[in-house]
Amino acid sequence: MLRLSCSPPLLLALPANLRILRVATRFYSSQDASSAPASLTINGKAYPSDSWTNVPPSILKHYGRQLHIQPNHPISITRKLIESRFPGFKNHNALPPVVTVGQNFDSLGFAPDHPGRSKTDTYYINKSTVLRTHTSAHEVDVFRANESDGYTISADVYRRDAVDKSHYPIFHQMEGALTWDRNDYPSNQALLDQIKADYDKLPRHDLVVEDPNPTFHPQRNPLQEQHHSPEEAEIISAHLKRSLEDMVVTIFNEADKALAAAGHSSEAEKEPLKVRWIEAFFPHTSPSWEMEVWWRGDWLEVLGCGVIEQPLLIRSNVESRIGWAFGIGLERIAMLLFGIPDIRLFWSNDQRFLAQFEGGKPMKRFVPFSKYPAAPRDVAFWLPKTDSTPTVAATPASTSSAPSSAGGQSTEPAITITDTPAFHENDLMEVVRNTAGDSVEDVVLIDRFTHPKTGRESLCYRVTYRSLEKTLTNEEANMLHEQIRQELVTKFGVELR
Ligand code: PHE
Repeated sequence: MLRLSCSPPLLLALPANLRILRVATRFYSSQDASSAPASLTINGKAYPSDSWTNVPPSILKHYGRQLHIQPNHPISITRKLIESRFPGFKNHNALPPVVTVGQNFDSLGFAPDHPGRSKTDTYYINKSTVLRTHTSAHEVDVFRANESDGYTISADVYRRDAVDKSHYPIFHQMEGALTWDRNDYPSNQALLDQIKADYDKLPRHDLVVEDPNPTFHPQRNPLQEQHHSPEEAEIISAHLKRSLEDMVVTIFNEADKALAAAGHSSEAEKEPLKVRWIEAFFPHTSPSWEMEVWWRGDWLEVLGCGVIEQPLLIRSNVESRIGWAFGIGLERIAMLLFGIPDIRLFWSNDQRFLAQFEGGKPMKRFVPFSKYPAAPRDVAFWLPKTDSTPTVAATPASTSSAPSSAGGQSTEPAITITDTPAFHENDLMEVVRNTAGDSVEDVVLIDRFTHPKTGRESLCYRVTYRSLEKTLTNEEANMLHEQIRQELVTKFGVELR
């Protein structure tokens, strides 16, 4: 079965040889601009709409939930656990999600044609304003404020994405950064000595670390030659990696304890914790890495990080500072810490969910409440005929949609369909979310077919309806499904089969 996941491109664009390719299925125009209201009101403020506006009501209705600061919410417990590994850092937890395109992309050095900017992947309030797609949108502002050497930013972030158990268009990230100010030291050697001393103070753990690559590589993971000496980049990178290794050891030990307390004698106990560092690319760090953790028989992408691009610090008026940054998605970590099987649960107001985390400590495994029956329904349709026939091609991930490790996204293998008109699979996902909301568990492409004579393409998706809170009747599922089918026709001109 071909699994489509149109995670937003965001920042992770690894060299093609290192990166599993993602699917970007584009088959229609992204949004029906004509149906957009003249303005969008968010948190009492009206923003003029334009042809870029694509924020649907299903997103706005979650505005202000701020799960990362709700007492006893698993996202908030996870945030606090991570923050506790960075003592002395200033924690920014209340930065509002509406940012400029400048903050979200330009300030970080995103190329003008970076796929992350696409409106198939990003929620635009209008041409110049977006719902932040990552906590990095605040990096320059926080550096400029220059209030602390270390900081974290935790926040809700927004990306148009697939519908399944591990993707939700709103999720939470934590950004962390630490810098040293050259001006604080009488000599470069004194600065290096200080970073080394800080490094030596970090807790060391008994974990297996695979880190086969040199710290920098001229093509794959360059040193910022103009700005950093190799010694500086080496020691900053070593400090970064050890700090993050300490953080994951803490998280996974907690997960293990919770597992054991729940009576599942931990399978992980049999195997020592194992992490590996993979070379990565982010516009705002170099060299850059992703950390993966070996968890129950799989390598799991956990975070993205690197040595902060010096031009970014220069733009932030702290040109004498050098240091590192990382970004981590909180949902994936919370899911494995607490054993939460479906990302929709985080948004539940059901006491059967929320009451399980009251009191916070000691960390407990989530006990699933009864599972309601699934109601799968298929929708098959012909794409509207266009001049350019879609072609299936493998595209290097550096130019295609690649999700972020910090986004808690999954890593299924993929192919890219290129040269297609302007509709994206995420548009279908959004029709589903807007119509059926959290009553849909997942949407999967189960068949694709090109007519040998006409060249027309037909797609078939399976939409699995299953509420987390009640049994959906057949009639309810049918009604939602029919609404989705009709929306596809009116919005995108498909021909139902
Ligand atoms: N902002 C990146 C993302 O969302 C993660 C990141 C943060 C990477 C900080 C490096 C440094 O993919």
